[in-house]
Amino acid sequence: MVTIKSKREIELMRAAGKMAAECLRDMGKLVVEGVTPLEIDRACYEWTIARNAVPAPLNYKGFPNSLCVSVNDVVCHGIPNNRPFQRGDIVNLDVTPIVNGYHGDTNATFVVGETSKEALDLIAATREALTRGISAVKPGATVGDIGWAIEQFIRPLGYSIVIDYCGHGIGRNFHEDPMVCHVGRPGRGTVLKEGMTFTIEPMINAGQAETRVDSDGWTVYTVDGSLSAQFEHTLLVTATGVEVLTQLEE
Ligand code: MF3
Ligand code: CO
Ligand code: CO
Repeated sequence: MVTIKSKREIELMRAAGKMAAECLRDMGKLVVEGVTPLEIDRACYEWTIARNAVPAPLNYKGFPNSLCVSVNDVVCHGIPNNRPFQRGDIVNLDVTPIVNGYHGDTNATFVVGETSKEALDLIAATREALTRGISAVKPGATVGDIGWAIEQFIRPLGYSIVIDYCGHGIGRNFHEDPMVCHVGRPGRGTVLKEGMTFTIEPMINAGQAETRVDSDGWTVYTVDGSLSAQFEHTLLVTATGVEVLTQLEE
């Protein structure tokens, strides 16, 4: 069931989204050569509890850490490990604080020092895919319109769109209806209404779309070993369009 957030709930979602964006910004500064994912996990935990919030990933369906750290050919849900970042790595951090009972969910892909043009192009395209998806959001549009906008942009570039994982409604729960897939057909699927909150979070692979889950039960890899990038925002459908709840003002 897709819920419509009340005025009060929207204020709470704004606060959660802002904290998520600030957390991602501050954790992103730690993505430098030699730092380990587990060090960022510790920093994320301390950062979050210091602000009277809770890191939603921790113990979520058994996930062992406070954020996901997905490096290179890891698509999403990377369990933080002890391997130091190396120059050229591409690193997605995905943070989700719970603030006064409401979730803000955002992620971004960072680079460690200098990386290849291939990696930079993939990251730029993935960021633009999220922007295109967001641009499709308004009352009366559908989740299919979002997927369609992303597909139209990504397909001609020769990349592939991961279909095994999708965006999602969000609020009191980490994952709610509707499911927001990053492929779709115009006019299909759930109709968007003012007061809905959900994420768009395209995962784009340089190679094939197929994924596999590691024996740790969480970490998702590309089957062909190709690079994967992702960006995520939490959104609110407004009377006239969309508000990005996890965007910091410049
Ligand atoms: N933050 C992820 C998302 O965007 C979900 C992570 S679930 C976890 O939906 F358990 F791996 F943290
Ligand atoms: Co999400
Ligand atoms: Co997320």
